[in-house]
Amino acid sequence: MSIRVSTAALAAPVAECGGIGTIGGSAIPVEELQADIRKAKAATNGVIAVNIMFAMKNFYNLVMGAIDAGVDMIVTGAGFSRDIFKIGEETNTPIVSIVSSPAFAKLAEKLGAAAIIVEAKEAGGHLGTDVALRDLFPEVRKVVKKVPLIAAGGITNGFEMAEMMDKYGADGVQVATRFVLTKECPVADAFKQAMLDASQEDVVLVKSPVGMPGRALRTPFVEKMAQQISVKAKECKYQCLKKCDYFYCISERLRQARDGNVEEGLFFTGENVWKMKEILTVREVFDQFISQAESVYKEPAAVC
Ligand SMILES: Cc1cc2nc3c(=O)[nH]c(=O)nc-3n(C[C@H](O)[C@H](O)[C@H](O)COP(=O)(O)O)c2cc1C
Repeated sequence: MSIRVSTAALAAPVAECGGIGTIGGSAIPVEELQADIRKAKAATNGVIAVNIMFAMKNFYNLVMGAIDAGVDMIVTGAGFSRDIFKIGEETNTPIVSIVSSPAFAKLAEKLGAAAIIVEAKEAGGHLGTDVALRDLFPEVRKVVKKVPLIAAGGITNGFEMAEMMDKYGADGVQVATRFVLTKECPVADAFKQAMLDASQEDVVLVKSPVGMPGRALRTPFVEKMAQQISVKAKECKYQCLKKCDYFYCISERLRQARDGNVEEGLFFTGENVWKMKEILTVREVFDQFISQAESVYKEPAAVC
């Protein structure tokens, strides 16, 4: 989760609990990302990944910088890079692709993805589809044969995790919004409070300069856009995207959200944020997910 929503502060405890702790690597300086990866790696023996959006202008610098800093895995979405698989092979770094269609899943597997994340419309941030997870996942499941297939978008508890793994055949789940609502997540308290206060109607789709729709909280900034009030940036301060229509400065708006500016910030969120009403520790989230999943998971019948 960029920008600076998932840093070492969140990724390391997730990895300590047995998850893949993922640092949001988009739209931050390479040196900052490297320092954060080293910090996370020093804090845990678990797996630390970095998520870098292909839409970033300095995508390759971020990827190479992350690998140099010793990251265990690169996760990439928001566009599709073919070259990344070559880099993965040359540096012995697993590449995980985020896709929202069977066609890209098939391509990612063919090109050498170590795992594939199916991200559906319930996800937070930039969206590659308007299809729901329970409709999209089975279509992708049919075409991915060899590598682990991970379900993402709207998963808030262990019952839903068990459902995706048991009924839909997912090999794992990717969870984001639930982890913003943890003690360890380094965003401002106002960000977490805005999420806790959100009702179902407060979660909306917004236009993004990245060229994809984004899912976010309905805040004063989003209301302004809906009312066609100009939110245009005065200057391009960050030079972050390969292509940008300068409709507004997404880097600035995400930074403002991270710092708790409820008036001006853009608060990315998953569709089901309204279901979560408490801030837990990362360990408590893991314990809750596992105990809920175990309470419904059916062991496959023994074959004699
Ligand atoms: C605050 C926030 C920031 C996000 N940032 C990124 C990002 O930088 N790159 C990315 O590929 N996905 C990003 N996502 C999407 C998540 O990685 C994830 O796939 C999705 O939100 C899962 O759905 P959930 O939030 O309902 O669990 C972000 C999501 C949130 C809520």
